[in-house]
Amino acid sequence: MRIVLVGPPGAGKGTQAAFLAKNLSIPHISTGDLFRANISQGTELGRKAKEYTDAGLLVPDEITIGMATDRMQQSDAENGFLLDGFPRNVGQAEALDVFLTDAGIGLDAVLDLEVPEDEVVKRIAGRRLCRNNDKHLFHVDYSPPQAEGVCDVCGGELYQRADDTAEKVRVRLEEYHSKTEPIIDYYKQQGLVQTISALGAVADVTARAMEALRAGE
Ligand code: AP5
Ligand code: ZN
Repeated sequence: MRIVLVGPPGAGKGTQAAFLAKNLSIPHISTGDLFRANISQGTELGRKAKEYTDAGLLVPDEITIGMATDRMQQSDAENGFLLDGFPRNVGQAEALDVFLTDAGIGLDAVLDLEVPEDEVVKRIAGRRLCRNNDKHLFHVDYSPPQAEGVCDVCGGELYQRADDTAEKVRVRLEEYHSKTEPIIDYYKQQGLVQTISALGAVADVTARAMEALRAGE
């Protein structure tokens, strides 16, 4: 399956993507994770992206689109993928359509995660990531590590993202409403959108998502 995951910052896209990608045996491609990896490795792309990600602003399309399509090519897009955080504006959605059309393939579904803003703020404020692996994800209240500040999976140090401050979250939400939400209408016109509530336990949200994806087939 070829799926796009959409939702506000902190909706649980990364959390759900890990389970969905495993259930469906498709690669999880997160542009946020790709930017953070480039930044921590000190690459040229990371250097360019950092000023935007740190500020909570979208990274310009000329950097983002090439990075995302390169990554899709590496994982044989025709065999399926789960995109998390891409596309994030209508220009990126159009570029993705061109990429897919050129490859002779299309999307199967756009899964839209709905979460009220006060919950998003709580989820982001309590989020902790592992220095060794972005996918080792915790929340101080909802999924706390056994020892404070230490990753349960690998023993790595847990940290808070530079863009997870209250001020940056406000900027990210504004970016989401003004630039990303319009892609939901764009994909509605293609009949691809499945909207689900992302409230409740992680496993319940995954079950809801799997059901919506099956219904859309
Ligand atoms: P990105 O990394 O994509 O950030 P985001 O969209 O703001 O999303 P988050 O990673 O904050 O949240 P999430 O929805 O994945 O939630 P999570 O699963 O972690 O992008 C970062 C930056 O990169 C952007 O600001 C931009 O600068 C740049 N960028 C990326 N893509 C771009 C693009 N295409 N174009 C331009 N710029 C781009 O969950 C959050 C917390 O909640 C966790 O602690 C988790 O444990 C907890 N949680 C999750 N689900 C539940 C649940 N059901 N119940 C309780 N807690 C839960
Ligand atoms: Zn870890």
